[in-house]
Amino acid sequence: MISNEEFRRALSHFASGVTVITTRDRGGAPHGITVSAFCSVSEEPPLVLACINRTTGSHYAFIERGAFVVHILGEHQRHISEQFAEPMLDKFAGIPILETESGLPVIEGALVTLECTLVRSYDGGDHSILVGEIESSTVNDARPLIYFRGDYRSIDFGD
Ligand SMILES: Cc1cc2nc3c(=O)[nH]c(=O)nc-3n(C[C@H](O)[C@H](O)[C@H](O)COP(=O)(O)O)c2cc1C
Repeated sequence: MISNEEFRRALSHFASGVTVITTRDRGGAPHGITVSAFCSVSEEPPLVLACINRTTGSHYAFIERGAFVVHILGEHQRHISEQFAEPMLDKFAGIPILETESGLPVIEGALVTLECTLVRSYDGGDHSILVGEIESSTVNDARPLIYFRGDYRSIDFGD
């Protein structure tokens, strides 16, 4: 078995996009967390998955609500990724928020927004693997925010 350090070092070399995943708990409080462990699962039905650490303050809210919104962040949203990666009293402070019809918080201006219903939750070690079915999606024209070797990066599109 490898050490935590070896795990982190190896996996930090997997370049990924960055998402913020939001929901509301039963009491109506908004929750959000920066997540790079996100990927597509299935086209028919349209499924995605996100891995969320069980020790995060927001974990219970995703299970409780059974629905969430995935925001694939644009390059211009690095500050949003940083804000949602810190345990804060009000993670949504200063961030323009809209609402889905069902009342979930939507961060304005993301590259892609996916409204999902939680269909299954699997045990994944110290994380939960949340599988969501996509109910609606919006796509904007922006450059993606990238995370690689512990830092934010930009893609040079050569234009
Ligand atoms: C770029 C980046 C990617 C992250 N990816 C994940 C992830 O995939 N899953 C996860 O549980 N936490 C991830 N985190 C850590 C959480 O965002 C962080 O622990 C957050 O503060 C937890 O929210 P909480 O305040 O609800 O505890 C990531 C952090 C950063 C900066």
